[in-house]
Amino acid sequence: MEVVIVKDAKAGGELIAGAVADLLARKPDALLGVATGSTPLPIYDALIAKVRGGGVDASRARICQLDEYVGLPAGHPESYRATVLRQVVEPLGLPAEQFMGPDGSAADVQAACEAYEEALAAAGGVDLQILGIGTDGHIGFNEPCSSLASRTRIKTLTEQTRIDNARFFGNDIEQVPHHVITQGIGTILDARHLVLLATGEGKAEAVAQTVEGPVASLVPASALQLHPRATVVVDEAAASKLKLAEYFRHAYDNKPEWQGI
Ligand code: F6R
Repeated sequence: MEVVIVKDAKAGGELIAGAVADLLARKPDALLGVATGSTPLPIYDALIAKVRGGGVDASRARICQLDEYVGLPAGHPESYRATVLRQVVEPLGLPAEQFMGPDGSAADVQAACEAYEEALAAAGGVDLQILGIGTDGHIGFNEPCSSLASRTRIKTLTEQTRIDNARFFGNDIEQVPHHVITQGIGTILDARHLVLLATGEGKAEAVAQTVEGPVASLVPASALQLHPRATVVVDEAAASKLKLAEYFRHAYDNKPEWQGI
């Protein structure tokens, strides 16, 4: 696992957008997995700016969701489908055919989960998966004690995650769904490159446990330790509980530039 400590969220966004740009230069039709929430927005802003500036051709990029609420009516503005369309797909100028996600409004949720696993495999797998992290260590919506081998399935959100996400629902926790479809930890680990961004002091404990704690389903993000190419990008505040922070800085500062992240 590589840990990169950056000055702030904007610098993290720039760094990761640069990695996406490099990927698209090598593989124009790369499948980019996107997380939702507040953290990845600087990545999307930086990528969109690069595309609009003409420095990056994302016209053949394909985008896929990590997770989705269950039970919101189709088209609900806070559904992750609508969110990713608004924040990533449309600003990049991509047609809807280059975007996929699980169907959170399906009558048969289990079938929707299986269909999404099949669609990801048929698309050749995720090339680069952008991840955020919950205050409880979740990735996607794999809450604590999710199986590290899990595949796309329905999960029940913890009360903490519903409290954390109430801000997207007019601060009314009653509006936050209890259930979600999420790529499993095993599904996430199938991506070729995992890039987790964490910013702010509220994520410091989860980051420390993810990076320096044992691999444990209690901290789902710690499964990144099992991946051959996982990059954790953190700002100073989110890095504040890392014991090896100085070593991570030293390693990154002395890394050959051609390696990127
Ligand atoms: C949502 C997702 C979640 C979020 C996490 C952090 O698609 O993947 O794991 O990344 O809940 O959310 P923010 O970034 O809003 O703190």
